[in-house]
Amino acid sequence: MAMPTHPEVPRHLAVIMDGNGRWAKSRGLPRKAGHRAGAETVREAVDVCQEMGIEFLTLYAFSSENWNRPEKEIEALMKLLERFLKTKTREFAKKNVRLKAIGQTHRLPDSCRAELEKVMAETKDNTGITLILALSYGSREEIADATRRIAVKVQSGELDAGEIGNDTIAAHLDTAEFPDPDLLIRTSGELRLSNFLLWQLSYAEFYITSKNWPDFHKADFREAIENYSRRHRRFGRV
Ligand code: IPE
Ligand code: IPE
Ligand code: MG
Repeated sequence: MAMPTHPEVPRHLAVIMDGNGRWAKSRGLPRKAGHRAGAETVREAVDVCQEMGIEFLTLYAFSSENWNRPEKEIEALMKLLERFLKTKTREFAKKNVRLKAIGQTHRLPDSCRAELEKVMAETKDNTGITLILALSYGSREEIADATRRIAVKVQSGELDAGEIGNDTIAAHLDTAEFPDPDLLIRTSGELRLSNFLLWQLSYAEFYITSKNWPDFHKADFREAIENYSRRHRRFGRV
């Protein structure tokens, strides 16, 4: 796997892509148009992260709570996701992108899920950037699922309850095979995590911008990374 070009570049960048609706509203467009524009920004995000040598990019695309949105909007988002996946297969192959997903993907519509599985299978041996889509993702659900899996192992005697530690939890999360994010970007100015990677972001640096996701371009990514590179991470030490 390619090493970051600068040590100051985050190895893993996580993004809460927020503000599609507000972007559309400010232009007198339907929310759907905002999601469409947001999908374009995803393309830019993958490109710029790859250019900068970031190894893992996690994008919060649909939360567990987003199922509570109007049916029409969910439908539009799922259609967009399916189209995104369909049009990406060839591009990911060419650009050596490996696609992964976290979240309760079994809740996605069948056609979406089939497309997702297909692209993940086709890109599994790619060695460039790993793009992780958080789909029907909620951190509390993820932790509950992990706890259930651990409990089953304790029950069967495969695991000793006394030996459960941080590493045990981490190994049972959807993110088990990825390092923790170093930097979290949230667009559109909200100062909250919205049930995103609660465990994994314990020591991540936060970068919040008031720009809406469809307005967040390559130069904005570079600025965020540069800002990150000037920070001093202490991890509890002096
Ligand atoms: C982010 O934009 C996309 C998803 C959550 C799916 P929003 O749809 O949340 O846009 P705002 O926050 O309403 O502007
Ligand atoms: C978080 O955005 C989820 C995604 C970006 C997919 P939301 O718009 O759903 O979060 P809240 O409702 O503002 O907390
Ligand atoms: Mg929002």
